[in-house]
Amino acid sequence: MADTGLARNVLSLFRNLLLAATLYAIIYSLIHFLETGSINPITRPEALPSQALSPPSSGTKLTFGGHNPKINLNPHANWFNRPESLVIAKDDYLGRRPHVDTVANLPLLVEACRGSLEGLEKMRNVFDCMSYLANSEEEYYYLPEPSLRASSQDPKKAEYANADGHGNTLERYDIPVTALAASKQSLGTCAGPIIPYHMYWTGPATWRVEIFIKSYLYTQNLPCSRLWLWLDCDRNKQAVDDMLHRDPLFKRFLPLVERGDIKLKEWRFPSRIPLPRDVDNTDGLGYYKNPGKPNLKGEITVGDGVVRDANGQEWLALTQKQMTFLPVAVSDAFRFVALHLHGGVYCDTDILMLRDMRPLLLPDPKTGQHSFAERWAAHAHEGDYNTAVMSLTANSSLSSYLLRGGVRMGLNFHPRVIGRMAWKDGRNQEFLMLETAAFDPIWTEFNWDREGRCTVPCIRDYGVAFKGRVDSIRDEWESYDGPRLKEIDITHHQRAGAPASLVERHGTLENRLRRRGETQRRRKRTVAAGAERVRNDQHEPKPEPAEESNSFSTTSQEIDELRKAGLIADYIIDEDHYPPNNRTLENFFRGSWSYHIHNQWTKHPEPSSWFDVIEHAQDGFFRGERSNPYGEYWRGPLVEPYGRWPEFA
Ligand SMILES: *[C@@H]1O[C@H](CO)[C@@H](O)[C@H](O)[C@H]1NC(C)=O
Ligand SMILES: *[C@@H]1O[C@H](CO)[C@@H](O)[C@H](O)[C@H]1NC(C)=O
Repeated sequence: MADTGLARNVLSLFRNLLLAATLYAIIYSLIHFLETGSINPITRPEALPSQALSPPSSGTKLTFGGHNPKINLNPHANWFNRPESLVIAKDDYLGRRPHVDTVANLPLLVEACRGSLEGLEKMRNVFDCMSYLANSEEEYYYLPEPSLRASSQDPKKAEYANADGHGNTLERYDIPVTALAASKQSLGTCAGPIIPYHMYWTGPATWRVEIFIKSYLYTQNLPCSRLWLWLDCDRNKQAVDDMLHRDPLFKRFLPLVERGDIKLKEWRFPSRIPLPRDVDNTDGLGYYKNPGKPNLKGEITVGDGVVRDANGQEWLALTQKQMTFLPVAVSDAFRFVALHLHGGVYCDTDILMLRDMRPLLLPDPKTGQHSFAERWAAHAHEGDYNTAVMSLTANSSLSSYLLRGGVRMGLNFHPRVIGRMAWKDGRNQEFLMLETAAFDPIWTEFNWDREGRCTVPCIRDYGVAFKGRVDSIRDEWESYDGPRLKEIDITHHQRAGAPASLVERHGTLENRLRRRGETQRRRKRTVAAGAERVRNDQHEPKPEPAEESNSFSTTSQEIDELRKAGLIADYIIDEDHYPPNNRTLENFFRGSWSYHIHNQWTKHPEPSSWFDVIEHAQDGFFRGERSNPYGEYWRGPLVEPYGRWPEFA
């Protein structure tokens, strides 16, 4: 803090740097990659690993300034020698992926977890709903008879934009026999319609974007899905360009943009939105009796906010004033527009996908519908929706009704406002409401509304999945009835002659960026303290990108260098604040299609926390060593592993 302390630290660091050239190199490059997330090659042997993080940026100067926080490396318990787990994970715990035409019986799912509309007998029993979701697929999933399957329909009439990968021009979808599997260069082909998954973001990519995208890649049917990453270009005209060319974190996903998995889309609030035909687009207010004269383009205003063009197509037209005062909660409105126009599903960026969502998104063969959202925790009101995960049948009477309603209410798309409107108008029955177990399994527990048993794991608070310290979570296994997983013996003894003195002297590292991150974090923490619970009841994601820039990555080479320097000793579990444990994804809200991180924008996952376990599973998957929950192995391009957070080193 004080300048003298600073000077002393600088001096001692320099003295140490001069003491040993190797150590100098290690510390130097560590500092560099802690600062920039990339590897400085100054001492790097010629043969760089091919996945070196960035092109060599030689001549980077390290300057010292301000107070210097330290990273204490414990050579006996740290990211470089900590076992990933105490147990052997069963990675393919979901069995085979659902058939490409499998449909979920949404009304049945609603009833099974809610009970009757009036009684809500089961709504609060999340454990029972989860068990149903995990164990009764054969009841609520089904494969329609061949002629009714989504893959048998005409791609030209598909509700999803680009459902056939050819702009909805093909005569028919590919058939399973000829459909191509994904490879490094190609996403393969889908024997059925391709479904868009929409997400919305502003600012640089962060850990949230990373875990969102990786969870998508880890669980969804990739040849049959596309991730549309919408970037707000009303706020930043260059948003797409920035993401493609100047984003240090997103760089790792560029091969997937190339392969077609991820589409970067410019989001601008449209001034007019096409409405379906054969629908009363005035919501019963009625079309004008004397609509007046067409303008030069042949367009007539035929109702309140509804324009009809020369071809008879009706449009929802925003006024100049509405365009000037676009909603603050853009993402609230965005999801309704995107789904109306393109179909598919919208997910908040703090949604972590756990299961293939496709069966929820294919239209019911009888009704052609698949519109749903989630309940607002365990609120009993029929209009209390949450739209963190939402699907709307594109260009449908319901999707345009919801859009018009939100626009009419002054561009207010808050889910509970929209929901109550739909309820008042008797439209909520078309807009199915799934219980929290489907997408946000701890919300009911968090709001103290749970009946029956706690979930598996039993987590009562959104912060808990970030925690990895010993005994930081009480009773997380209280509802687990399965067999206890066999624990691996990881006891090691300290190797004789470990150079402890060197470690003591060199175990702390300067990291200016971390200091910056720390200050920001502290500032945010003060604001956030106490407000956490309130914030958790809100739904609008608040990206805080500055938070994320300071994780670092390592290569096996750096680890070798650390080892040579004696900074890596045998692992001693008793010295570890974050010892490995028996958490595996198999027991992480089995049955739910997603887990909702629910804001928590300033938190990073501690080692051995539930999120850390997920990161390891995904890293192993992208390395080709572990399967995903469906027993599939990664065939795509290299995806870099998660970075590490200096505060947990
Ligand atoms: C919406 O559906 C109508 C038919 O109801 C169709 O004519 C129109 O092209 C569709 N619009 C979009 C944007 O798909
Ligand atoms: C994990 O360990 C705890 C005790 O620490 C035990 O109660 C629980 O059943 C174990 N869970 C599994 C899946 O083995």
